[in-house]
Amino acid sequence: HLNMCKMSRAGKKRKLDKSRQDRLYFDSYSDVTIHEEMLADHVRTNAYRTAIFRNSDSIRGKVVLDVGAGTGVLSIFCAQAGARKVFAVEACSIAEQAEKIVKQNKMEDRVEVIRGTVETVELPEQVDVIVSEWMGYALLHESMLNSVLYARDRWLKPGGLILPNRAELFIAPVSDPVVEDRLYFWYNVKDQYGVDMSCMADFAQKCVRNSDIAVNTVAGEDVLSHPARFAELDLRSVTVEELRSVGGAFRCESFGSAAVNAFCVYFTVSFPCPDGPHALVLSTSPFQPETHWKQAVLYVDRPEEVVQDTPVSGEVRMYPSEDSARHVCVHVDFSIGNHKRQSKTFSIPDWTSDAHI
Ligand SMILES: C[S@@+](CC[C@H](N)C(=O)[O-])C[C@H]1O[C@@H](n2cnc3c(N)ncnc32)[C@H](O)[C@@H]1O
Repeated sequence: HLNMCKMSRAGKKRKLDKSRQDRLYFDSYSDVTIHEEMLADHVRTNAYRTAIFRNSDSIRGKVVLDVGAGTGVLSIFCAQAGARKVFAVEACSIAEQAEKIVKQNKMEDRVEVIRGTVETVELPEQVDVIVSEWMGYALLHESMLNSVLYARDRWLKPGGLILPNRAELFIAPVSDPVVEDRLYFWYNVKDQYGVDMSCMADFAQKCVRNSDIAVNTVAGEDVLSHPARFAELDLRSVTVEELRSVGGAFRCESFGSAAVNAFCVYFTVSFPCPDGPHALVLSTSPFQPETHWKQAVLYVDRPEEVVQDTPVSGEVRMYPSEDSARHVCVHVDFSIGNHKRQSKTFSIPDWTSDAHI
């Protein structure tokens, strides 16, 4: 959720030890802005609210653990859905605000805010349900899912409910007009100011098509094919070990003629819906209403032209960065039609250390 767009990209990479990474991470959740952004995201918050109420038969009279409660919003939804007891575990100082919110809503007899990491707190009993909003950019940035899996293995009763219980990752080729506009800009400077800067085009190209994972809104019309699913996580069974490398193969066919200059990666998470034929899906697709996660955009080094039905295929791997385990890296190995295969590794810009140290 961290707003990398505003952060400085300067500064050399340095390896952060785990406690420092965690401190930086939890500090970022101590401010109001991030909670405001999450609560203002109606798609996100209403998806959880609806999912919790749809599962009220499994929640009523039961014990719930909210992993990373933040302001306590999901804990209160669970109490409203009839939970007997909710443990709202939150590591950072926003827990103090959650406590006030719980009191303001007269839920203190049922929602207990516990300050600490879910890996260290002691609960008085096992729980029937785990709820958590753990998703980061490109799903796995921030690595909070590891904490949810820890909580599942330590505190969830066998056969207990986990909300959401499934996550899927998708990729699609994109023709991003902004990149071309930004490169073309350097050819127009002469017309405006009488100074020719077209020699900047190569440099601009290198800067714009860098290996950062950009978090941008991709317009549906810029997506060049049906998205392809390349990974699926069943949260009831996936292990922390398996999260060290998440990915798989993909294959798409282009809708029409354009130049592929990027890929967009996005995710969905699903909640079981006992009363309906389908799961409830929280989607961050470019074809669905926008969420604060937007999409992860990966700019390729060599854009390639496609026509209708040109195959775009390859493999995606996501894994924690060596410099900071909370940062995700994405490796894409791909071929577009008959063009030479390309591969590129992308990572979240190293803004965390710059911003906080
Ligand atoms: C994405 S926010 C969600 C907040 C809230 N549940 C909501 O939906 O608005 C994740 C929260 O989990 C907390 N968190 C992350 N890892 C945690 C851990 N291991 N133990 C306790 N809290 C954690 C963060 O401090 C942050 O407040």
